[in-house]
Amino acid sequence: MKNSLINKYNVAGPRYTSYPTVPYWDNNSFSSKTWKDSLIKSFNESNSSEGLSLYLHLPFCESLCTFCGCNKRITKRHEVESPYITAVLKEWDMYCELFNGKPHIKEIHLGGGTPTFFSTGNLKRLIDGLLRKATLAEGYEFSFEGHPNNTTKDHLQTLYDLGFRRVSFGVQDYNEVVQVAIHRIQPFENVKRVTEEAREIGYTSVSHDIIFGLPFQTIEHVEETIKKTKELMPDRLAFYSYAHVPWIKGNGQRGFKDEDLPTPQTKRRQYELGKELLSEAGFVEIGMDHFALKSDSLYKSIDQQKLHRNFMGYTASKTQAMIGLGVSSISDSWYGFAQNVKGLEEYYHLIDENIIPIYRGHLLNEKDLIIRKHILNLMCQFHTSWDNKELYFEELPEVLERLEEMEADGLMKIQGNNIQVTEKGKPFVRNICMAFDLLLQENMPETQLFSMTI
Ligand SMILES: C[S@@+](CC[C@H](N)C(=O)[O-])C[C@H]1O[C@@H](n2cnc3c(N)ncnc32)[C@H](O)[C@@H]1O
Ligand code: SF4
Repeated sequence: MKNSLINKYNVAGPRYTSYPTVPYWDNNSFSSKTWKDSLIKSFNESNSSEGLSLYLHLPFCESLCTFCGCNKRITKRHEVESPYITAVLKEWDMYCELFNGKPHIKEIHLGGGTPTFFSTGNLKRLIDGLLRKATLAEGYEFSFEGHPNNTTKDHLQTLYDLGFRRVSFGVQDYNEVVQVAIHRIQPFENVKRVTEEAREIGYTSVSHDIIFGLPFQTIEHVEETIKKTKELMPDRLAFYSYAHVPWIKGNGQRGFKDEDLPTPQTKRRQYELGKELLSEAGFVEIGMDHFALKSDSLYKSIDQQKLHRNFMGYTASKTQAMIGLGVSSISDSWYGFAQNVKGLEEYYHLIDENIIPIYRGHLLNEKDLIIRKHILNLMCQFHTSWDNKELYFEELPEVLERLEEMEADGLMKIQGNNIQVTEKGKPFVRNICMAFDLLLQENMPETQLFSMTI
C-alpha cells in the first residue's frame, strides 16, 4: 500500500462500538429516569422476539500486562471475588424489577479483566443467580474471555455445563522479546493446552486474540505468531491493531517507550501480511479486526445479514437491548446508552444504596439513529445505502463531498445511493465511518481522544 495513503488516513479515530462515540455523549440529554424509560421501551418491543444480551465485566487480573487498554484491577487477593458477584447479582435484580415480565436471555458474555480469575464456584453462583430471574431465548449464546495462563480444565467444564459454547483466549504475540516488553510471559504450550481442552469438552467456537503493532514486534514476529496460530486453528480470530492510549490508561501503558513501537508503515505491513497468511489458511475477514473460518457462526451471520456490532465487539445476531453489569460496563437500549461508574468502591457504595450505578450516558435523537444505522452497516457489511428523502444527507452535502474524496482514493465505490467499501478501503473503514460522524466533524477534538486508525 502506498505511503501517501497511509500518511493521509492515519489519524486519530474511534473504533465505533457505539454511535455517538463515548466522548460525544450528551449527558444533558440523559438522566437515570430517561435511561430507564428507554430500556423499558426497548424491553417491551424486543424481549419476547429477540431477547436481551448481558455483558458482565469481571475486572480482576493477577498481573498487569503493560499494553492493556481494558478497565481492570490488579490483585492476588481472591477474597475480592465473592462480594463482587454479590454486587453484580444485586444490580441485575434492580434491572429485573424495572420490567413487566421475565427477561429472555439471548446472550451472556463474560469479559474483563479476567473472568478466569474467579473460581468455578463463584462463576457458577453468578450464572445460576442471573438465570434464576430469567428464561432462555432460542439459540442462546454464552461466551467468555479466558486467560491461557490461568484457565483450568475445571473452568472450561463448569462453564460448558452452564451453557457456554464459545471462548476467546488472549494470545497477543508468541515472541519472548515482545512478551517481556508487554509483561505477559505466556508459552505456546499454555495456549495449546486450553485450546485442545476446550475442543475436547465440546466448545463449538474457540477464538484467539492476537495483536500487531506491539512494542519491539517485527514483521517476522507477526509471521511466526500466525504460523503457530495455524497449528491450533481457532475457529475465530481477533487480529487487533495495538491501541496506544497512554493518556487514558496512565502508567499501565508506559512499560515501554514510544520509540519501541513499530512505525505506521511497519504496522500496516504487519496487518497486510497477517491478512494474507490468514486468508491462505481459510480465514475470512469479518468487519474490522476479525477473522473467522467459514464453519463459524460469525461467518454464517454475514450471509444471513445478521452480523451485529456493539460494545462486546462483533456478534452473530442482533438484540435491541444489551445490559452491562459490573464496574465500567456500558448498556445499550438502542435509544440510549449508559455507563456504570469505573471505581470499585463507588460501585459498591451505589449498589448498597439500591441505586443502578450509572454515571453518564446519551439518548439518541432522530439524526443520531440514522447515522448509527449507516455506521453499523459499514462496520458489519462494508456497505450502506440510503433513501433520497433521508433528512441527514439532504442537510449535509459535505458528507457526500468527504465520501467522494475517498472514492477518488479508491477506498469505496458510490453508485446512486449505495456505498460499497473496496478491498483497498477495508483497512480504512474507521476513516469512512468518520465521514458520517456528524458530531466528530462538527467538533474535532483538540487533544487526542482516540487511538490512531492505523
Ligand atoms: C480482557 S482481555 C482478554 C482476557 C484476558 N484478560 C487475557 O488477557 O487473556 C481482552 C483483549 O483485549 C485486547 N486488548 C487489550 N488492550 C489492548 C490494546 N491496547 N490494543 C489492542 N487490543 C487490546 C487483547 O487482545 C486482549 O486479549
Ligand atoms: S490483557 Fe487481560 S490479563 Fe492482561 S491486564 Fe488486560 S485484562 Fe488483565
